[in-house]
Amino acid sequence: MDSPFLKSVFADKFADNTNDVSVYASPGRINLIGEHTDYNGGFVFPGTVEQGIMAVIAPNSLDRVRAYSLDLDDYAQWELNDTEGPAATCFRFVYGIMRELKERGIDIKGFDTVFAGDVPLGAGMSSSAALESCFAFGLNDLFKQGEGISKWDMVLAGQATEHKYIGTNCGIMDQFASVFGKKGSLMRLDCRSREFEYFPFAPQGYKLVLVNSCVKHELAGSPYNDRRRSCENVVKAIQSLYPDRQVETLRDCTWDDLNKVKSLCTQEDLQRATFVLGEKDRVLAVCDALIRNDYEEVGRQMYLTHNGLSKDYEVSCEELDFLNDIAKACGVTGSRIMGGGFGGCTINLVKDDMYDCFIQTVTEKYEGKYHITPKIINVVIGDGSRKIQ
Ligand code: GLA
Repeated sequence: MDSPFLKSVFADKFADNTNDVSVYASPGRINLIGEHTDYNGGFVFPGTVEQGIMAVIAPNSLDRVRAYSLDLDDYAQWELNDTEGPAATCFRFVYGIMRELKERGIDIKGFDTVFAGDVPLGAGMSSSAALESCFAFGLNDLFKQGEGISKWDMVLAGQATEHKYIGTNCGIMDQFASVFGKKGSLMRLDCRSREFEYFPFAPQGYKLVLVNSCVKHELAGSPYNDRRRSCENVVKAIQSLYPDRQVETLRDCTWDDLNKVKSLCTQEDLQRATFVLGEKDRVLAVCDALIRNDYEEVGRQMYLTHNGLSKDYEVSCEELDFLNDIAKACGVTGSRIMGGGFGGCTINLVKDDMYDCFIQTVTEKYEGKYHITPKIINVVIGDGSRKIQ
């Protein structure tokens, strides 16, 4: 992303605004393992990529926000006290963040903004969290008095924006990653306690590479929310069996609990919970394996996650299963769907000496079957939300 260019677009679109501009950036994310565990109080293992969203912002002297999306060539404006907000999704993220920051005590005044990004949309790399985090960070920086809000408040403002203004009942992984990301490190987050630690990640002899299927089958909202509801149904069944126990999420449930509520839950809900319980254990197994530099074990766990996401959680699709099969056939160490599912990327842990052959094979075979060229993204772990200028 190019900040001088974005600033020149700003100067062109908002020629009447002569205030100083500030430039902010927030990245998309990868997740090594721990999928659909965040809203179940489990562990996740994300890191941020170099690709993200950049925004040029300057206060104006109007009680209004004027926003231009360079990528979509779309413009919207709204009053600061507007309670409906704009219709187009990309602006609803900005509007939602503005409202959430106001609720957290930031006195947001009128501003103009131009934003753009290089994180692919619908790829499971959290372009929307990057957009939310960019504005949460930027608007806090511009309008705070004193300390402003904490980084965790920025994360929660982003999540609340998804819940209230977009309709996706997401967890906290994506916004957390985008705000807290650190160059060269993955982060293991306990989504229940919100404690986390940075894990330097530079595997010798391996590369992390995303293969973007370039398909997105369903609208993110409803099937995602259905999965979350299934998990909550199982929690409710366990609570009804053990009213004296503190059971808030599937994090608090054991395999034994799951066995005991078999007759109280639908087969589908049980299947979803089976995946989540397994995934909780897999994140911890991957952390242990990383400490031992045992990348074969990391890869084995990644394949198990793919299988669970595909068969039990049912968030895969034909194209992603195909990409996973090719990775396996090529002897790739680990491969799985990344993010919410229903399309987007696979994340692959590939030995250096296998890399060229894998990329060539996966490209040819995917093109041959679907007539789509998959996009290859080599992962470079970059920094989280920041001010560029
Ligand atoms: C989406 C959500 C996250 C998380 C992942 C699946 O990216 O926004 O909160 O649930 O799906 O792990």
